[in-house]
Amino acid sequence: MATVKDNLLRAVELQHSDSPRLDLEVLLCHILGKSRAWLYTWPEHEVNPDQQARFDALFKRRLQGEPVAHLTGSREFWSLPLKVNRTTLIPRPDTEVLVEVALALGESSAGPQKQGFSVLDLGTGTGAIALALASEQPHWQITAVDRMPAAVALAEENRAALGFDGVHILQSDWFEALRGERFNLIVSNPPYIDPKDPHLREGDVRFEPLSALVAEERGLADIRMIADGARAHLNDGGWLLVEHGWDQGKGVRELFSGCGYTAVETRLDYAGRERLTMGRFQAD
Ligand SMILES: C[S@@+](CC[C@H](N)C(=O)[O-])C[C@H]1O[C@@H](n2cnc3c(N)ncnc32)[C@H](O)[C@@H]1O
Repeated sequence: MATVKDNLLRAVELQHSDSPRLDLEVLLCHILGKSRAWLYTWPEHEVNPDQQARFDALFKRRLQGEPVAHLTGSREFWSLPLKVNRTTLIPRPDTEVLVEVALALGESSAGPQKQGFSVLDLGTGTGAIALALASEQPHWQITAVDRMPAAVALAEENRAALGFDGVHILQSDWFEALRGERFNLIVSNPPYIDPKDPHLREGDVRFEPLSALVAEERGLADIRMIADGARAHLNDGGWLLVEHGWDQGKGVRELFSGCGYTAVETRLDYAGRERLTMGRFQAD
């Protein structure tokens, strides 16, 4: 029987992965129902034949490029265990910067906005951003929408599993189902990849839906629609905050300024690349 150590040594075969050893540790933990610390403590533990067969099947799929999160069915975001599937994006660590900035914007919002602070998460996918905000600010009124019914169902499943009863999740094509509603903060990690980007044919993104990834106008079409539409859904002095590609900062700032937002500013991700732009809506 192969040991834990023998199975982890198979990482050398995962040449396409940026993190082959970690991938196998996560898959083995999933199959054995153990932590990574346990794997390090018991390298000589023998994996039983049933577990070995299940691990071998996942290993084969990982060799073919399937993301680890799809193989385990879950991904941690902001320390929350989230169910993931092929209907939407696997939450990325860089999106936690958006959560940090959103929390800071909420904290610094003055006056009556502090009471019943309201947030809208556009294109919520797994619910990652909305649920992370709810975990930190249980009294915020949080609404989350997605156009894809299967993503709405997934976000709702994650919401229920985490017990965040205050988060309201619904199906909407951007603002369509939100007629007349206004918020103090609108956040979004929308599709922003140029349909011609060759990276769409490489790595994990091949297994994620184009509906979560791609936008026309060299990736800016959805951000343009959001910047335009958000003006009718923000309270006076409210903020719009969007994630975008590392090379789209200038384009997004121009879109925001063109829509009349003030205090337009771009923030960097953990790798120091322009990744988030915010702007303030001021009613005339
Ligand atoms: C990049 S994913 C982000 C998912 C999640 N917010 C996250 O950060 O992990 C974009 C999401 O926007 C949704 N979406 C795309 N077009 C939309 C639209 N017109 N209206 C609402 N949601 C949309 C997709 O279904 C997808 O779930």
